[in-house]
Amino acid sequence: MADAAEPTVISGPQELRAAVLAARGRGRRVGFVPTMGALHAGHVSLVERAAADCDDVAVSIFVNPTQFGPHEDFTRYPRTPESDLALLTGGRVRWVFAPHADDIYPPGWCTRITVDGPARGLEGELRPGHFSGVATVVCRLFMAVPADAAYFGAKDWQQTLVVRRMVRDLGLPIEVVVCPTVREPDGLAMSSRNAYLAPGDRQRATAMWESLEVAARAWDAGQASSAIERLMRGHLESRGVVVEYAAVVDAESLDAVRPGAEARALVAGRLGATRLIDNRPLPPRQAGGG
Ligand code: PAF
Repeated sequence: MADAAEPTVISGPQELRAAVLAARGRGRRVGFVPTMGALHAGHVSLVERAAADCDDVAVSIFVNPTQFGPHEDFTRYPRTPESDLALLTGGRVRWVFAPHADDIYPPGWCTRITVDGPARGLEGELRPGHFSGVATVVCRLFMAVPADAAYFGAKDWQQTLVVRRMVRDLGLPIEVVVCPTVREPDGLAMSSRNAYLAPGDRQRATAMWESLEVAARAWDAGQASSAIERLMRGHLESRGVVVEYAAVVDAESLDAVRPGAEARALVAGRLGATRLIDNRPLPPRQAGGG
């Protein structure tokens, strides 16, 4: 058996499934971090959390074609296998799952999972088929890595809602743990796509986080969500971001905010050819302020 400091790289889903089940059979708690590679400090924080909670950790690296639209960045999505592996070495990662496309989508594959509810608006509306691709691959990955718990970043807030709903609705035997967004010192949320940003756009990208701070202040001051959305949009536009959405919604359903329930501010926009998303929680308040 490889030393725990040196992850074993496995491409076959059945081989990994057998290894994970054997570990669990010996009473070990297994954590799973699904990724598309191009790993950064945000992914490392998920691995650290999984390692703190579990005896063994598996990390998958698979750029999933089915969650990219026809005009999206699948072919140019950053692929950095050597540095990814270096980041996962020397810690508590026991397995790296690096499947080939055929291992995930066998020839003749024709099954997709569709989640409704939280998958409907925002990203779901702008990126048709995206969450179906995410749900399908995550379900497939959960079969290959039958872990006790899976760790996802809150930066992809809507994705976490979709995965949690799928796990609940299909009764999948895995706990979904959502971990805080990791940010650069200037507030920009860590993302593999930040690597695309030209230097000037990288500076302007802080507008994403700033717009969420604007939202939090206006929320605390009791402003209505529609007014807050206008403020967020205005801030983003003033910094040159082409806004796709600026929303203040119920944190769980993504519908209109409800008095006494946690809300969420979410933004998506483009700087040049780079698409960025971000979000932050807004605490429950009594006046819903629709
Ligand atoms: O968040 C991601 O990196 C991807 O959407 C995921 C969950 C690994 C599925 O491909």
